[in-house]
Formats: sequence, C-alpha cells, structure tokens
Amino acid sequence: MQLFLDTTDTAVLADLVKTGLVDGVTTNPTLIAKSGRPMAEVIAEICGLVEGPVSAEAVATDAETMIKEGRKLADIAGNVVVKLPLTRDGLIACAAFAADGIATNVTLCFSVAQALLAAKAGATYVSPFVGRLDDHGADGCALIGDIRTVYDNYGFDTEILAASVRTADHVARCAELGADCATLPPNVFEALFKHPLTDKGLEAFLSDWAKTGQTIL
Ligand code: G3P
Repeated sequence: MQLFLDTTDTAVLADLVKTGLVDGVTTNPTLIAKSGRPMAEVIAEICGLVEGPVSAEAVATDAETMIKEGRKLADIAGNVVVKLPLTRDGLIACAAFAADGIATNVTLCFSVAQALLAAKAGATYVSPFVGRLDDHGADGCALIGDIRTVYDNYGFDTEILAASVRTADHVARCAELGADCATLPPNVFEALFKHPLTDKGLEAFLSDWAKTGQTIL
C-alpha cells in the first residue's frame, strides 16, 4: 500500500520524506489556501521533495476550463497528477487527460456508483473520502472494500486512494479492505509509528540495559 501525505506544509513534508516511507503527496484548494503561498510555487517545491505522484487540483467547474487548468498544472513537473472533482464535467476532463496520457486523481468520491464512473472515465486514482463519510453517519472504510470488489469484478486498474483519513485505524482498515494507497495528514502518518506497548517495552529494555553498564560502541 502506498502512503501519501495530504499536506502543503513543505517543512513537515521534507522532514517526513527522510523516513523513506512517503510515496507521494496530495493537495487540495483548502490546503493551498492554508499554505498562504501561490499554488504553482508550492506544487513545484513539493515536486522537488518527492519523486512520487503529487496531486494538484483544478478549481474550474466546467470541463473546458478544467482541462486548461489541468494542463497548466501538469506542466509544473513530470510527477504532477491532475486532481478533478467527481462531477460530470470533472469526468469529461478526466477522460480527456486519460487520452493524453496525463495522470488524474478523481476526488470527492462518496459512493460505489461514482467510483465506477471514475474508473470508466480512465482515472488513474479515485479518492473516496473515508472520514467525511464517517462524519455523515456512514462507514467510510466499508466504501473502500465495496469499490475494491467492483473494480476487481471488471479488472479496472484505477487505483483506490483512501482520502480524508483521520486515524491510524482508518489506515489499517483501508489496507485490509484493499486500498492501493492512502493519503494522510502528517499527524496521522506520525501516529502509524506509535503503540503504547512499543514505548513501554522500549523503556523496560533500556532500563535493564543500563543496569549492565555495557556499551555497544
Ligand atoms: O484531500 C482530501 C482529503 O484528504 C480531505 O480530508 O480531513 O478535510 O476530510 P478532510
């Protein structure tokens, strides 16, 4: 399973890239606004920090302008993935990019039916929003498994990118249910390393080791 960071904080990203565990980055208009920086500048910097896919989202609502915006975004760097909303126009733009060999991430997916359309439009990635579905009273992770079943039924190669991921448990469940990738806010990425028994066990090992008076180096 590929792990992406959902962030425009380049300092945090540069630090987490050092783990060697960051496979790509996703952004959205809210995260760009949060950065307080020009979009092209932030995306270019992120593309310089990671070799993997970097999603940059078009903001037009009509297909023609989305295509123009997407082409401009794709020109920023070779690893840009054009992110498009799961709307009728978004999927028309998606199909145009697929025909041109430009990678896409169809976002704001909340149902199997929408995911089916994204795959038929040739999306490289589809982003089901797990946390926002949970907020809405549904089981967001269950959607991942349902989309997996449908994509496998028909051999679609669109990758399932679990988004709006809020907890380490979300990541684990999405992995169990067959997500190809998950995009995580930095705090959730950090949480993946943690378990209270790891901390407790390490404390005991180090305390016992100290009693020996030995050093390894
Ligand atoms: O980038 C899309 C997504 O990950 C947003 O997450 O937490 O705002 O629902 P959230």
